[in-house]
Formats: sequence, structure tokens, C-alpha cells
Amino acid sequence: MKFFLDTANIAEIEEAASWGVLAGVTTNPSLYAREGGNLADFHDHIVRICEIADGPVSAETVTLTRDEIVAEGVELAALHENVVVKVPTMPEGLAATRMLAEKGIRVNMTLCFTVPQALLAARSGAAYVSPFIGRFDDISEDGIEHLGSVIAALSNYDFGHDVEVIAASVRHPQHVVASALLGADIATVPFGVLEKCVKHPLTDRGLEAFLADWEKVKNS
Ligand code: E4P
Repeated sequence: MKFFLDTANIAEIEEAASWGVLAGVTTNPSLYAREGGNLADFHDHIVRICEIADGPVSAETVTLTRDEIVAEGVELAALHENVVVKVPTMPEGLAATRMLAEKGIRVNMTLCFTVPQALLAARSGAAYVSPFIGRFDDISEDGIEHLGSVIAALSNYDFGHDVEVIAASVRHPQHVVASALLGADIATVPFGVLEKCVKHPLTDRGLEAFLADWEKVKNS
């Protein structure tokens, strides 16, 4: 499973990239707003992320009709070769995804919650399908069970193009574990979750003991 960072924070992206584990980035309007982003700087911000992340960078459309989404998508895709256009799962989004795919533009179909939505996203030509986990948990449903259903259903078919499943709305390392066990291609995680994934108290304790023993070796 590959790791994407789910953020628009430049410092977090630089840090994860420096670890050598960053395969891509997903952003959304809320994540950009959280960074205090304004409209005038949006395209530059996406380009900056693309220059740091050596992989697909999802930039989301914010319009509601197919023609508007396609126009936005074409503009976003022209910013950098790493840009993947993120389109919400809805009828106009499916139509726009088909049109963007026919232009050779990669689409990440987002806000995907169900198996039929995922199948339709894949059929529309989306290169990535993003089932959300945490938002199901928020309404007392099992997000991981839904993710498992999406992965199982998509694996039954050949869509005539590559479709990768991005486990999205990841809230904690257990979501990462479950996503990997289910065979998700990618997990897009907030930086805090990535940090939690690498840390373990037994690792800290073991390292402390090794370093203490090495001091004894050095002083012997
Ligand atoms: C996916 O690409 C979305 O940006 C993201 O995972 C949404 O997660 P949230 O439910 O934590 O907002």
C-alpha cells in the first residue's frame, strides 16, 4: 500500500517527502481553507505541492455542472504533470470524469461512500476512487466494512484502465492497518496519522536501551 498525505500544509508535505515515503498528496477545499489559503494563491499552492511531492497531487474542483467541472479540471491539470483532478461523486461529476478521461486527464473521484458509487466512478474513467472511512465512523457505521465492500466489488471487474482505490478520511493508524489488510492501493492520511504510524513505545524503549548499552561499549 502506498502512502499519500491528506493535507495542503507545505511543511507537512516537505517533512513526509524527506522521509522518502511520500507517494502523493490529496487536498480538498477544506484542507486549503485550513491553511488560510485564498483564491488568488490556489494554483501557485498546488504547483508548490507538486514540486515537493514526487507523485499524484489531487486538486479538487468546486463547480457543479459537467462543463464547469471539465473547464476547471483542464485548468488544474495544465498546472503541473503531477496534478490529478479530484471530482465529487455525483451525476455531473461522472459525466465530467468521462470527458476529462477522454482528454487523458486523470481523475480522483472523491466523496465516494458506496459500492455502486465506486463502480460508477470506475466506469466513468476515474483513475482513482476514494472511499471515505472516517465519515462513516462519525455516523456510527463501520467505515472499514464499507471500504472492504468497495475493494471486493471493484476487484471483480476489468474496467479497461487502471483504477486505484485510495482509502480516504483516515483518522488513526488502525484505519491504516485495516486498509492495508483489505488491499487498498493507497491510504491518504493526515500528517498526524503518518507520525503515529511510525512511532511505537517499544521502538522508543528499545532504542533507548541500545543507545545506553552503546555508551557502555564506548566507555569500556
Ligand atoms: C480525501 O481525499 C479527503 O481529502 C479526505 O480524506 C477527507 O477526510 P476527512 O473526512 O477527515 O475530512
